[in-house]
Amino acid sequence: MNVKRFGVSLEENLLDDLDQLVEKQHFPNRSQAIRFLISQSKVDENWQDDEEVAGAIVLVYDHHKKDLQNKSTDLQHDFHDLILSVQHVHLDHENCLETIAVKGKASMLQSLAHQLIALKGIKHGKLVMSSCS
Ligand code: NI
Repeated sequence: MNVKRFGVSLEENLLDDLDQLVEKQHFPNRSQAIRFLISQSKVDENWQDDEEVAGAIVLVYDHHKKDLQNKSTDLQHDFHDLILSVQHVHLDHENCLETIAVKGKASMLQSLAHQLIALKGIKHGKLVMSSCS
């Protein structure tokens, strides 16, 4: 892809913030940090505008709660056209970690994530919002 250079004028404190971001997130340079911020802003916009997006729903739960697993499976069947893959990892004797890769309209993915995360017995749940492009 064609890379163009441009000059940026920034207040000193903003430049300090940018350099802190570069250091904290181990970006190789300021350009890479700015690329990250622009793509993050684009992802946020796509989700806000209810566009076709991709992401992952991460769930941690106790697998002894059979009712929870049944409800989660029912929900995943209801929304099967949004689900690309499901990875299930047995974390320890009682805890399971499930990562559900999803793609579809932002509002539908949020609806699925909210319903899964709200199930009784889910210890932790999070929707990671990313982009298709
Ligand atoms: Ni398990």
